[in-house]
Amino acid sequence: MNNTHINIAVLVSGRGSNLQSVIDNIENGTIPNASVSLVISDTKDAYAMERSKKHGIDAIFVDPASYPEKAGFESKILQLLKDYNIGLVLLAGYMRVVGPTLLDPFKDRIINIHPALLPSFPGLHGQAQAFDHGVKVSGCTVHFVDEGVDTGPIIIQKCVPVLEDDTQETLASRILEQEHKIFPEAVRLFVRGKLIIEGHKVRIVE
Ligand code: GAR
Repeated sequence: MNNTHINIAVLVSGRGSNLQSVIDNIENGTIPNASVSLVISDTKDAYAMERSKKHGIDAIFVDPASYPEKAGFESKILQLLKDYNIGLVLLAGYMRVVGPTLLDPFKDRIINIHPALLPSFPGLHGQAQAFDHGVKVSGCTVHFVDEGVDTGPIIIQKCVPVLEDDTQETLASRILEQEHKIFPEAVRLFVRGKLIIEGHKVRIVE
């Protein structure tokens, strides 16, 4: 049993419902030995920042427009992660590709939630890409972040059916329901030291 407390930072760009699912699972005791210590947004008015404040969590807007290069923007984030003694970074609807400035110091310690069954439909609008392609099942994926776009080792996936009368919106909301389950579950496993990365595979040791 791993009892070390982990400070989590969550990077967001918008609504923050996946952030909320992690906060809720920490508050109700499902994820022990962890706290969301910091939320960083690249978007000024992201609703995720409001959610953070309601739970007494520091939420900081880092303006990408203030930095001519991505490395400068990520250096600012890295400094905040160090200031808050962060051990795990979550990307929860964070709409940027993470570069080496953050990836190298946080190797195997950055986790992303993606709204499609990777390796299909990476990048933006995964739900819409899947819907437009006409797949009969879609879903969501939680994975470690590597240097590619949604290419890192997969931790958990969940399928949902695509129904005849679905729209992009109804499919996205069916997927989101599952995101709110598997994202906190992956965090719980990480915090308990149950995720072993072997090459491109993640072994879950319960
Ligand atoms: C979620 O569906 C998440 O999977 C997706 O953005 C949404 C954010 O919602 N992420 C990506 O598409 C990343 N490429 P939320 O802000 O309510 O968590």
